[in-house]
Amino acid sequence: MKGKFITFEGCEGAGKSTQMRFLSAYLTERGIPHIVTREPGGSDISEAIRKVILDGRFTAMTDECEALLYAAARAQHLADTVAPALAAGKTVLCDRYIFSSYAYQGYGRGLGRRFLQDINSYAVAQFMPDVALFLDIPPARAFERKHGADREDRIEQAGADFHRRVYEGYLRLAEEYPEILVRVDCSGTKFETKDKIAQLLRARGLIG
Ligand code: TYD
Repeated sequence: MKGKFITFEGCEGAGKSTQMRFLSAYLTERGIPHIVTREPGGSDISEAIRKVILDGRFTAMTDECEALLYAAARAQHLADTVAPALAAGKTVLCDRYIFSSYAYQGYGRGLGRRFLQDINSYAVAQFMPDVALFLDIPPARAFERKHGADREDRIEQAGADFHRRVYEGYLRLAEEYPEILVRVDCSGTKFETKDKIAQLLRARGLIG
């Protein structure tokens, strides 16, 4: 892979979309070719899988089915969107990736890491991100910022305890993968966070 692979992680409402927009604008200004994509989704088939995963009517979905669908969407997204862009030398900005599965399906739902690693092995083996930015804001504050959970979204409706476990999971993952999953303190303004991210990426030689 030639291009840089930068992913964004964190709880609902952590400000990932805003920071991705800022970073994309920064790259555009500097003429750095890049794409902005998301998981689950980012390609026709993966967007269709996304609709199934997040559909608020599917309350009977098992945790295993959920994890497998995220992994399936990821495999297709890699093949259709991420791998071709990296091969063409483009920087890829991706909203969520493998650490979302470890945090949500692992710590949130309680599935084993081994199982998650196995079903995601295609992704993990070939395409670990150069950096995964963990936008750190506790879930209670984040939901406050976005004025509550989305009623139509199955994951957002999973409850406060679930989101607390996900958040604590991210904190542990950041300790476990210090080279890749980097915590960004988001308690300041969005502009302060933007500067922190730019500084961090520059220090790692990932942006011009
Ligand atoms: P989305 O609306 O994109 O949420 P957000 O704006 O917070 O990123 O929905 C994605 C949801 O899917 C989000 O609740 C996190 C969840 N998710 C997982 O549980 N596992 C995964 O592997 C991924 C990629 C996402």
